[in-house]
Order: sequence, then structure tokens, then C-alpha cells
Amino acid sequence: MKFGYFDDANREYVITTPRTPYPWINYLGTQGFFSLISNTAGGYSFYKDARLRRITRYRYNNVPIDMGGRYFYINDNGIIWNPGWSPVKTELDEYECRHGMGYTKITGKKNGIKAQVTFFVPQDFDGEVQQVVLTNEGSFENTFSLFSFAEWCLWDAQDDSNNFQRNFSTGRVEVDGSVLYHKTEYRDRRNHFAFYSVNDTIDGYDTDRDSFIGLYNGFNNPEAVLADKATNSFADGWAPIASHFKKITLKPGESKTLVFVLGYVEMPVDQKFEADGKTINKVKAKAMIEKYDTPEKFEAGMKELKAYWDKLLGIFTVTTPDDKVDRMVNIWNQYQCMVTFNLSRSASYFESGIGRGMGFRDSNQDVLGFVHQIPDRAKERIIDIASTQFPDGGCYHQYSPLTKKGNADIGGDFSDDPLWLILSVSAYIKETGDWSILDVMTPYDNDMSVAQPMLEHLKVSFYRIVNNLGPHGLPLAMRADWNDCINLSCFSDTPGESFQTYTNPKFAAEGGYSKIAESVMVAALFTYAGPNYVEILKHLGKDDEAAKAQEEIDKMKKNIMESAWDGDWFFREYDANGEKMGSKECEEGQIFIEPQGFAIMSDVGKDQGTDLKTLAAIDERLNTKFGLVLNNPAYTKYYIQYGEISTYPGGYKENAGIFTHNNAWIICAAAYAGQGDQAFKYYSEIAPAFTEETSDIHKTEPYVYGQMIGGKDAGADIGQTGKNFGQGKNSWLTGTAAWNMVAISQYILGVQPDFDGLKVDPSIPHDGDGFTATRKFRGATYNITIKNPNHVCKGVASMEVDGAKVDGCIIPYTEGKTEYNVVVTLG
Ligand code: BGC
Ligand code: NOJ
Repeated sequence: MKFGYFDDANREYVITTPRTPYPWINYLGTQGFFSLISNTAGGYSFYKDARLRRITRYRYNNVPIDMGGRYFYINDNGIIWNPGWSPVKTELDEYECRHGMGYTKITGKKNGIKAQVTFFVPQDFDGEVQQVVLTNEGSFENTFSLFSFAEWCLWDAQDDSNNFQRNFSTGRVEVDGSVLYHKTEYRDRRNHFAFYSVNDTIDGYDTDRDSFIGLYNGFNNPEAVLADKATNSFADGWAPIASHFKKITLKPGESKTLVFVLGYVEMPVDQKFEADGKTINKVKAKAMIEKYDTPEKFEAGMKELKAYWDKLLGIFTVTTPDDKVDRMVNIWNQYQCMVTFNLSRSASYFESGIGRGMGFRDSNQDVLGFVHQIPDRAKERIIDIASTQFPDGGCYHQYSPLTKKGNADIGGDFSDDPLWLILSVSAYIKETGDWSILDVMTPYDNDMSVAQPMLEHLKVSFYRIVNNLGPHGLPLAMRADWNDCINLSCFSDTPGESFQTYTNPKFAAEGGYSKIAESVMVAALFTYAGPNYVEILKHLGKDDEAAKAQEEIDKMKKNIMESAWDGDWFFREYDANGEKMGSKECEEGQIFIEPQGFAIMSDVGKDQGTDLKTLAAIDERLNTKFGLVLNNPAYTKYYIQYGEISTYPGGYKENAGIFTHNNAWIICAAAYAGQGDQAFKYYSEIAPAFTEETSDIHKTEPYVYGQMIGGKDAGADIGQTGKNFGQGKNSWLTGTAAWNMVAISQYILGVQPDFDGLKVDPSIPHDGDGFTATRKFRGATYNITIKNPNHVCKGVASMEVDGAKVDGCIIPYTEGKTEYNVVVTLG
């Protein structure tokens, strides 16, 4: 069942009922100011850091769901409704929500009054702009009321949700005409405030929540709206809000347009106040308000936003035989890559924005799907990430986007982290040809006095692995590798111990983690990422160092084959007892997905046919119609030596859920191994546009990836096998976005930036006749046509560039040339 449709021409998903199976959200803003907005206008805004600078309040896991948002209430002579249906939930005569690139347009109609509200965050602007167009489509003149509503968060979202004994007495506001200011703590330690304005006179306002809503009422029936009159309340402590009240009279056919701005302002310390020392200096706020105080200015901002996305999405476009693929590649997957790049795993409808900042591994991987869009921002991000590394190659696992400092609460020692930096830096160079990033002086632990060139950071990343091997010459698993839920040094038997940070005292003397437990996944990732480091060294003429590094890679491959090949696939770990995990010998969890793809793509044991054997085993044991499960069979009991993974009922999350992020590695590997049919099958099992038809089962947005989908074992524990099989969770902020962008664009469609230029080497379903692609790359436009007359999956039979035959599949790069016409014939 569908709950809307794709409007590809406008790059929108159009939701046609407010009762989606879960709130379907969008993100506004790409720079400093961000908003999350659901299809019923729920959500919140923040500046840079969803924890430290939360602007409006949201209630996670609330009953009913999705409470808190920017709401417009209409009281039409006693009939009260919202254009987005919620929170009043009066049945509307018409409803539509269009989530587009950086904007959301919600339209509701009731009894002849149509209200269309468009929300967006303009470029270079720290605020959300909202345009409300009210039209009388009825046949009588009508006078009705409009109330706006936003609830302020007291800045630190974590403190805001627990320190009530203090917070109920700190709230402060200021009112100036139609502008409602939030200035809690501004007098004291903060140099920022927020405001909510409208470009017209108002007939009243409220700034105190209890006065507006009423202590025993809810968002669905605020007292002021019921009474059809604002109370002009002035918050002093308790919960400050901002609500404008305006009476509107419309003749039949007449419209009224209002533009609201919800803004955030930072002030220099010596200019915070007016001469009286307590009134907010509003110069900056007024300039922001003026920037969007007419419908024309609003339109101009929207046009700019569209131009921005036209440009970004014009960098890579494809026309394939499948419009679902085109819609993913040309629009939604790239859009999601921007969002994950900006927000890492911090703020979604499943990430509360208070727990996690930017993840070291997460953000490095996000770069892989984003770097072609704005390489300069990718570069800046890479430097920020690398700045949280330590001289020994270890790193903080997370850092705050506001302070850019590592998060000491979580610490480091996640074994995979450093390797992703090699991949992100390589991706940046491959995209841009800008080798100078290697020279950028980059601090350790944010301390510039110990800065080293980025190349050195790659070196310490590489040798972090080499210098931390276990008994079989495989990398130590440390706290965890990519799979945060395999915690081999925890042995936790006490509630409340964090699987990610708790270390069992038995490993204290060993430095915090087992020196026995080894990760095959990190071994395989090392052999996949490592060759990039080698190539970089060679390019720099450092042949000796390159040879030395290559030796380590070869040794690792040998060690994997000697100690981690299980006969039909690679196993997952040696645990702290030296026992195999993810092997046929295990009772449960015999095969895991994570090491396989990287091992295949690094040709580990390829001469022994490991690639096709492994792919066959994956197809047999892990594949389902909704994607590949992470492991099989699911764990049905708690294994203290494995940790969190065995705490999830089978079929969910890392315990045999369909963890879409690592599905991409198999898609890449199948494509790499020439299995284009298999690669595309796995791709289409999880690509959101393909799940649209089953949205009732999938539940989360059909335009973006989620972190996981319920696996085939879901419900088995309770005798309801298959319950929630196919159900998506944790949408939006997942490494799946970047990796599936890589999988479809570079591995399946085969348009792959390489150190020496653009490579074209597709691996597609054999029945396709080919496709075309346009790629902007290093200052030139590449028009690429792929022909598949013999219906093969993979293999470049010939390549022509501007009519001339070329050997191999890398398009020779000619300095200064701006257009390349490329024809590739498979065969
Ligand atoms: C989740 C993981 C996540 C980890 C760190 C675990 O509870 O299952 O997916 O990576 O926490 O936040
Ligand atoms: C989600 C985390 O963001 C990511 O870092 C981790 O790799 C996966 N979960 C797998 O556990």
C-alpha cells in the first residue's frame, strides 16, 4: 500500500494522507541551522548541535506520537483545525504534504478555507522561514483566526529534559511588536537568543505555555485557541513559547499571505544589549526578519534553494531502464547523503540529538557518498575528523559539531575507526585530484602544537592496525569494530553498563580490552582500504614505504586465509576465549555479513574461488525478499562473551536484522565479482523507492534508507516468526545512504572516480541494454553512454572517448578539456 507518490519532475515526495504508518520527515537546512519536519509539521530546530543549541522543544517517544512542532491553528468560527491535520486532528477536506529538497509544503483545506504552509531554511540564513497562504475558496466572506505556535527549548536539550527544579524558573522572553523573543540565560552566560516573527500586525500573542495551552489541556485543544483569543501572556520562568494571534477576513476568492521567521542570533558580547543594559540588541534579528518579510522575498529564497539543488544534483545524473533507480540516484539518495553528511547520527526521529555528535567512522563513511557534491566541505570535514585522532592512530569515537572536540565520555579504541579515514581521504583525492590535502597540517586531539600533515594521519591509521594484532595476526577487536554490538571485552552481567564503554575489570591490566579477541572484519577492511594508502605513497614517489605497506596487506591476506576462512565464507571474530564466532562450528550466528564484502573486494583467496563461494553462501543463508540479514541463525540467548548483539531478539538490529548499511558492501562485492544480476537484486530489495508499494509493511519513508529492516527471524522468540519482517526502523541517519550511493553509482553503474581519472566499469543486470550518465568531474562534463548488445553483466569490450578508441576503462584526463563524450560497449 502507498501513502503518496513520487513527483520526480519537482523532486518531491507527495504524501496524500496525514496518517502515514510512521511520521515521515524531511530536513531543512544544510549549513548551520537545521529543522526536522514531519508530514504533519512536527519536529524541531537547532543550530549546529542538536544537543547544545536546541531551539525548539520536541517530545520523543510521546503518546500520541510526534508531539511538538511548529503548528498553525485555525479557528474558523468554532471549527478548529491545523493545515497539517495534527495536533488537533480535525478531519480535513483536503490534505497534502510535499517533501522536497530542503523544503516542505503542507496544504490543508476545511470548509472552503485553504491553508498552504511552506517551510524552508534559506541558504546562509540561521532560521526557518514559513509562508502561510490562506485562501477563501468558499462562496461567503469569512472571518477566522490564525494562531502560530512554537515552544522554546532551554538550549541544552539534555538539561532541558531533566533539570526541572532549575529550568522551571529560568525562562525569559521579550515582545516587540510582532516579534516574540526567547532570551533564557541571555543576560547571564549565553550570547545567543531566538525569535519568532511575522510580517504583519498581530491582534495578540502568547509567550507562556500554560496561558496558551492550559495546564490540563494539550496541543490538540489549547485554551487560547478554544477561546479564540490570545491572552498576551508574558512568560517568566515555566515554559516560554511563541504564538502570534491574528484575525483574518477573506472575501470569496481572496487570499492572505503571511511570512514568519523563526530565527537564531549570536551576538558579540559587547553588543548584546541596548543602552539600558537589559533589552536585547535587535539589530541582527531585524536584518534577518527584513530579509524575508514579503512573499516576493520568500519566493526569491525558494528559487535560490532550488538553484542550489539543481546545481548539486546536476553533478551526477543517470537515465537507466528503471525509473526507480533514476529517482534514487538522481534525487533521493544524493539528498540523503547531504543530510547524513551534515548530521552524522545525531538528530532524527530515532536519534534524540542529545546522545551523539559526529561519529569518527560514521562521518568518514558519509564523505564517500557526498564528496562529489561539495568537495570543499568534505575536505573541511575530513580535517575536523582527523583532528580528533591521537598520535598513535587511535581516535575519539565521536566529537561535538559545535566545539569540534572529542567526546571523552565515549573515548576511543574502536578498532575499525582509523581505517575509514584512509577511505575518506582517498575518496576526496579521487574526486578532485587535489593531492594537497595530504600536506594539510592537522592536529592530534585538537592540539595544533602537535599537528602533522594529513599524510602522517593516514600512516598512523594504517599502522594502528598493524601494531595491534592478536594471536592469529588479525587485528585486535578492541572495544568493538564497525559492529558496535559485538563487544568482546565487556562480559557484562550488570544492568546499566554501557556495552560501548564498559570494560570488564579482567581486561584492565591489558589496557582495557582483550588481547586475544580479533576482528576478521577489520582484517578485511584493512586489505580493502590499505591499497589506497599504498597508491598514495606510490604517487608521492615513496616507493619504499609503499612496498612496506603492501607487505603488511599481503601478510594480512595470508593470515585471513590461514586463520579466518571457514570453507565457504570468512568467519567473524575470535572472541576473548580464542573461540571462533561466525563459523559453521558455532551453534548460532554461523555466518556474518560484515567481513565478506571487503574480503571479496580485496581478492582474499580469490585463486581458491572464495569470492563466488562466499557470495553463494550469502545468497543462501542471508538473503530475504527485504534484504540481507546481518547474521544467521539469529542468537536466541544471551552470550556474555559477545555482548549487546545477543541482547536483541532475533531479527532486530545487529542480531539478524536486515542492517542495510552492510547490505551495500555485498552489493559492491557482487558487482565487483561480476555478478551484476545478484548485485542489482540486493540493491532493489532495500532501495527505498522499491519499497514504496509495501509502505504499510515497511512503515518508514519510501524516499530514504533506514538503518534497519526487520529480518526473517523477527518474532521467532515469541512464536510469531516473521512478525515485523520487512518493517523499517531508524530512518534517515545511516551509513547506508553513502554506501548505497557508492554501490549503485560506482559499482553497479560503474562510474568510479579513481586517482588517475574517471573510470567506467559497470556491473549491471544482464538483461539491460545499457544506460546513459552525465558526470561533472574535475571541471569537465562527461557524457557517458553504456551499450550492452551482448547482454553481459560486466566487462568493458571497448571504450571510445570523443570517437577515439581507448585502452582499458579509465578515461584519459586532458588538462583544460571541458567535455568528454564517452561510449562504453560491454561484452
Ligand atoms: C546500537 C548500535 C549503535 C550503538 C552505539 C547500540 O545500542 O544497536 O547500532 O551503533 O548502540 O550508539
Ligand atoms: C550504528 C552506528 O552509527 C555505527 O557506527 C555502527 O557501525 C552501526 N550502528 C553498527 O553497529
